[in-house]
Amino acid sequence: MIRYKPILILFVVAFVCVTIAFAAGDAAKGKAIYQKTCQKCHAADGKGNPAIAKSLKVELKDLGSAEVQKKSDDELKKLSLGPTDKKKPVKGVAPAQLDDVISFVRTLKK
Ligand code: HEC
Repeated sequence: MIRYKPILILFVVAFVCVTIAFAAGDAAKGKAIYQKTCQKCHAADGKGNPAIAKSLKVELKDLGSAEVQKKSDDELKKLSLGPTDKKKPVKGVAPAQLDDVISFVRTLKK
């Protein structure tokens, strides 16, 4: 039995890695969704599109800033889709895709 222990450990480690990778969402897929759905307002780098900020009379916070990044995934999900006082609901993003988008937003962290 001892002989199989390393293999067993390897198997468990691999399993845990795969599980974490899935749970955390896929940042590459999220990037594509972000570019299609969020970029027009938040800009490619998350810093915000000044023209949109002006027309909506809001301050678009840098999505990579510590202030935004300290929020939990759940909070970010709610804020991403809105609605908030100033943000209309964002349509066309399924819950599973949202995990991917949040993974991408995490890559913007400074
Ligand atoms: C029509 C423009 C628009 C689109 C599209 C949009 N947002 Fe926003 N977003 C806003 C505005 C405006 C705010 C500020 C809301 C407020 O202050 O109440 C905001 C706020 C946020 C916040 C909160 C930042 C903070 O103030 O802490 C996050 C996170 C966010 N958006 C992510 C996303 C993601 C991810 C997407 C794509 C799924 C997206 N947004 C699409 C306009 C947009």
